[in-house]
Amino acid sequence: MRESMEGFRLLTLYCFLFSSMRIATATLDTITLGQSIRDGEILVSADQRFELGFFSPGTSRSRYLVIWYKKVAPKTTVWVANRDNPIFDTSGVLHINAGGILVLLNSTKDIVWSSNTSRSPENPVAVLLGSGNLAVKDGNDNNPDNFLWQSFDHPGDTLLPGMKLGINLVTGLEWSFTSWKSNDDLSQGEFTQIIDPHGFPQPFLKKCPVIPYRAGSWNGLHWTGYPQLKPNSMYSYNFVSNEKEVFYTYDIRDSSVLSRVAQSPSGVGQRFTWMDQTRTWAEYYATTRDECDNYAKCGAYAICNVGNFPVCTCFKGFVPKSQQQWSIYNWSAGCIRKTPLDCQHRDAFVKHEAVKLPDTSHSSTVKYISLVQYIEGGQDLYVRVAASELGIIESRRQPSGKKQVNVIIIVASIISGMGALVLAWIMYMRKTKLKNEGK
Ligand SMILES: *[C@@H]1O[C@H](CO)[C@@H](O)[C@H](O)[C@H]1NC(C)=O
Ligand SMILES: *[C@@H]1O[C@H](CO)[C@@H](O)[C@H](O)[C@H]1NC(C)=O
Ligand SMILES: *[C@@H]1O[C@H](CO)[C@@H](O)[C@H](O)[C@H]1NC(C)=O
Repeated sequence: MRESMEGFRLLTLYCFLFSSMRIATATLDTITLGQSIRDGEILVSADQRFELGFFSPGTSRSRYLVIWYKKVAPKTTVWVANRDNPIFDTSGVLHINAGGILVLLNSTKDIVWSSNTSRSPENPVAVLLGSGNLAVKDGNDNNPDNFLWQSFDHPGDTLLPGMKLGINLVTGLEWSFTSWKSNDDLSQGEFTQIIDPHGFPQPFLKKCPVIPYRAGSWNGLHWTGYPQLKPNSMYSYNFVSNEKEVFYTYDIRDSSVLSRVAQSPSGVGQRFTWMDQTRTWAEYYATTRDECDNYAKCGAYAICNVGNFPVCTCFKGFVPKSQQQWSIYNWSAGCIRKTPLDCQHRDAFVKHEAVKLPDTSHSSTVKYISLVQYIEGGQDLYVRVAASELGIIESRRQPSGKKQVNVIIIVASIISGMGALVLAWIMYMRKTKLKNEGK
């Protein structure tokens, strides 16, 4: 048994060396009709940055068709074709058919994975670009808008510079990235990073069926819960939201630097840059989540602060909805108003400084607030309360016969707090519109 394993390895090695030699003469970055990539052969991007070939991660023997960095060892994969359907031997072969569809076959000539397209090309060509994008195009049409298919539209666990995280509202295509199951198994893991386009769009980390983390809405510079993304000399960040698409993307200013964002199997989002001197990936940041990053930890009308114990406190003017649950540190029911808002009398606004803005998925009709987290470099939030709560005015006598109206209103405070955002938003939309109109 052991001997046959060794034999297998030697054979694999031999096949690998042999096939590498076979293609070493020409640096190929394209596959055309009639050409193919077998296990052991590779495509190399013209700028020598990325390679596409077959790979077994960690201790696994499964073969995956992946894209990795040419100069990085051990191999760091940035994209996987057949992540949920590995090949169990070295018989895999990739080719492109006349319809412009990439097809990955196993030894029984069954389709293990394929791309797709809605148009039929005259001269289909698959090319591995210097950005790490595997694109299918028609002949020499290099306009990305005309690509028939591209791997950048189907991320694995990695977001490369220039890739989008978000959603195409026209086609419904979602650009999300999902962790591997483990370092040995590239199939879909538990954690997916998405952008929810509802209300004011926000990135969420999903671990079905729960939401472990919400990064907050975009404030023009960064996600409100993520001040680490503030503008700097190394990266530029961009958030786009219009009728056609909602997405976040980043770029690295020095294009010679290798940088990637990856979602780890344990749910940590990490950004790495490659250090040529040490030949290692340096962690630029990791989403080190604390207790308060747990989505809706404190329930409605409460604030979470890891610097306090217990971490949850009700807003000023609010009391725990269930005192009994609150006292055993079950904060999920949140808080309720001590005194109802009263249109007949003045209400006041309590300012909460440097917080992550609440969930804006329903920001057009915000009826309640959940999770406002204290965060360094956060935003100010104004919460409307009855003026009597602040001792600003003595509560006047109710006009007799009139029933006190318990009003559920849009939290005007949030609107005012976000006024600047909305203004920036409108200006941005106008600018985009002008651009679209060619002005
Ligand atoms: C080839 O792939 C097909 C489809 O995934 C699968 O049913 C078949 O068992 C595979 N053949 C081998 C030899 O693994
Ligand atoms: C392409 O494949 C995806 C799933 O892999 C599917 O959701 C989509 O509808 C397909 N598109 C076309 C044009 O066939
Ligand atoms: C926490 O309180 C909510 C209701 O407020 C209840 O549904 C839930 O079961 C409680 N959780 C625990 C762990 O007791």
